[in-house]
Amino acid sequence: MNGMIAMAYLLSAVMFILSLGGLSSHETARRGNLYGMVGMTVAIIATIAGVATGALWMVAVAMVVGASIGLALARRVAMTQMPQMVALLHSFVGLAAVLIGWGGFLDPQVTLRGAAHVVHSTEIYLGVFIGAITLTGSLVAFCKLQGLVSGKPLTLPARHWLNLTAILACIVLGIGFVPAEVSTGTLINLLLMTAIALLLGIHLVAAIGGADMPVVISMLNSYSGWAAAATGFMLGNDLLIVVGALVGSSGAILSYIMCRGMNRSFISVILGGFGSEGGVVSDDEVEGEVVSISQQDLADDLKVAEKIIIVPGFGMAVAHAQQAVSDLTDRLRKMGKTVRFGIHPVAGRLPGHMNVLLAEANVPYDIVLEMDEINPDFPSTDLVLVIGANDTVNPDAVEKPGSPIAGMPVLEVWKADKVVVLKRSMASGYAGVANPLFYKENARMLFGDAKDSLQGVLGKINS
Ligand code: TAP
Repeated sequence: MNGMIAMAYLLSAVMFILSLGGLSSHETARRGNLYGMVGMTVAIIATIAGVATGALWMVAVAMVVGASIGLALARRVAMTQMPQMVALLHSFVGLAAVLIGWGGFLDPQVTLRGAAHVVHSTEIYLGVFIGAITLTGSLVAFCKLQGLVSGKPLTLPARHWLNLTAILACIVLGIGFVPAEVSTGTLINLLLMTAIALLLGIHLVAAIGGADMPVVISMLNSYSGWAAAATGFMLGNDLLIVVGALVGSSGAILSYIMCRGMNRSFISVILGGFGSEGGVVSDDEVEGEVVSISQQDLADDLKVAEKIIIVPGFGMAVAHAQQAVSDLTDRLRKMGKTVRFGIHPVAGRLPGHMNVLLAEANVPYDIVLEMDEINPDFPSTDLVLVIGANDTVNPDAVEKPGSPIAGMPVLEVWKADKVVVLKRSMASGYAGVANPLFYKENARMLFGDAKDSLQGVLGKINS
């Protein structure tokens, strides 16, 4: 039996690796998801078979209840609410690690001595520490993304010292906890560390402001992986260790890539409270005049433009405008125009959000370019259509050092001959900062829901 379970674990570990490989490109993403599902099904069956004693019905009830809640939530959640859902799911992983750690500590049947005790209590201590940070950090991220608390960074005085003190306190408590026999003393150490780690998780994420949340989400993804790996050590489950390490390291790599995209330092993300030094730019600080444009005028502009770049953002997802974007692109390409897309690494609310939506609407992959590839081409472009993007095309990021988004590379759309921005109002984007792009001389605003506007423009081109 044990041999079969080991084989099943090996199979699911391979499936998970293939799944990660598949998810790295659009063409293979579906297959990647399928591998992941097969791997997880095999893992669940093997795990239950491995631990099954008498109370299988309890496992069955827990699974039916859990799966029903998961299914209902996943069906109801809109694509635009995915980041909060992911944050909430990360918090469950953290909670599981804390509970399993405490369960392991309180288990009267575990009577290890010597080195085995040190190893076991180290596993418990690390599992609870990482789990508690992941739990509250993810809950704060959920509340920020859901708009339940302000997205503004909480910048307490000497916050880095507070974090450092908390970590040092946990190390000192750990030195007392790990080698000692289970007693009231070690109980207090674990209790204190849990409380400090829960507060640390809140503080680390509360200190991070609007535009930098994407990096935090991928960082918490990584933490949840390490929490799962620590749980695997506590339970002596090899597959959980492998899967936790896969999630932990891939989350860390994603965070690193996103840090590079956002021009932030990886270390300052882990320590919390980066990118929050500047003040918020208010609307009245922006100079210039906002000029709106009609659907007919945009249709006329598109008819004469030769080189066109489309820059989608979160608003395209809100408006479900991807199909309308695809139809317009198709029409313009048939008219002989060069149409390409410029994608910012944090456009939307999920890594790859825009790519997924455009792929869903059958926009050819070869005309969808990353920010670094397309940025040099804006000066030689006739017309840029900004569809529901805001922070990712904000010139202040490169032109105004004091701005909260300063230093973040953006799509330099204002360098084109003309830019038309499709959005409903003058409202700011996720980071809550005003956008001087809308006031530039070569910029025009087409106000309205992006899908309605695009369908209207396409109608005018066709008529
Ligand atoms: P945002 O800066 O969030 O701006 C989106 C714009 O879309 C808004 O200004 C909004 O203006 C407009 N909009 C909303 N609904 C619309 C509709 N139905 N039709 C037309 N326009 C609509 O978008 P972005 O440029 O994609 O930047 C993404 C931001 O989210 C960044 O700050 C990023 O850091 C953050 N973020 C990203 C992620 C990831 S991983 N991608 C995760 C969390 C946060 P109106 O209300 O005036 O229409």
